[in-house]
Amino acid sequence: MVDDIVIENLSKSYASGWPGRPPFVALDGLSLTVGRGEIFGFLGPNGAGKTTTLKILMGLVRASSGTAFLLGQPAGDVETRRRIGFLPESPYFYDYLTAEEFLTFYGQLAGLGRVVISRRVSDLLALVGLAEAKTRQLRKFSKGMLQRIGLAQALIHDPELVILDEPMTGLDPVGRKQVRDLILNLRDRGKTIFFSTHILHDVEMICDRVGIVMKGRLLASGRVEELVKQDHTQSVEIVCQQVHADGNALIGSMASRVLQQGQQCLIVLPSSDGVDAMVGEIRRQGGRLISVTPHKASLEDLFFQEEVTDTSRVETSKVSGRAS
Ligand SMILES: Nc1ncnc2c1ncn2[C@@H]1O[C@H](COP(=O)(O)OP(=O)(O)OP(=O)(O)O)[C@@H](O)[C@H]1O
Ligand SMILES: [Mg+2]
Repeated sequence: MVDDIVIENLSKSYASGWPGRPPFVALDGLSLTVGRGEIFGFLGPNGAGKTTTLKILMGLVRASSGTAFLLGQPAGDVETRRRIGFLPESPYFYDYLTAEEFLTFYGQLAGLGRVVISRRVSDLLALVGLAEAKTRQLRKFSKGMLQRIGLAQALIHDPELVILDEPMTGLDPVGRKQVRDLILNLRDRGKTIFFSTHILHDVEMICDRVGIVMKGRLLASGRVEELVKQDHTQSVEIVCQQVHADGNALIGSMASRVLQQGQQCLIVLPSSDGVDAMVGEIRRQGGRLISVTPHKASLEDLFFQEEVTDTSRVETSKVSGRAS
């Protein structure tokens, strides 16, 4: 697979602004690749270094060390910029312009012809759900509407590679779904999408691969299922009836938690290892098995591993192909 983004050992330090104080390390040796036609979610909490990375990719900020290539060219290359769409974190809007005028302006900046611009503007306004607001000035737009027009702006020149800084921020659940669908639609048309977010659910829903960044370092990268599978904290919940778990030595020794409510009993096992033995014990007691539910660790568990050390790093091999 061709890689549309290749980031190698990228670091960025910002001057502290105070004499004698060491510089602040925003990025610390970050490496990752995004393959052509992939949706890659760049996930991390506030201050992790997401925007810094994206700004370096767009040539807006210079890296302290390391390299970044987009579409085979060094980050910031002017010619390559024409093939890339970018939604900044805090876009600046000329708010006296209408939605239509705003997109037309960006179409002209991108060097598109009048007829193409007119068609693209109509298509994009429909795509981001703003067709009705075509002639409304941006100063009358809600936060979510501004986010959508920003997305339309990023796509005006039909770029091959789309880089979006928090595209779902400020959107309600319907708006978030629309943006997710839009990103999937872009991928179906062969585009590569690299977007930052701190919303886990959106990543789990649409990303082929994900990179988790914290304190400027890549904590984990890979397909969502792979990252989750590597976590060994999986538990199994067993619900049964007519079983008396209190005082039962076998149940007590195997379960991490037991909740007895009258005839109903919930038994939590720390892993799937003891399921057979536990079901055997329930049967032996003449109990009735209601359900056995494995609980997969979610991406959230990884996200909340706050202490990032070298030994806790998870690097999964890159797998071509897409998440279902
Ligand atoms: N121009 C700057 N000067 C000094 N420090 C900066 C500058 N820009 C960013 N930082 C610091 O670098 C770190 C990473 O910032 P960055 O904006 O990349 O984070 P982020 O992951 O995008 O966070 P958020 O989710 O809040 O947008 C933060 O601690 C921030 O304070
Ligand atoms: Mg940011």
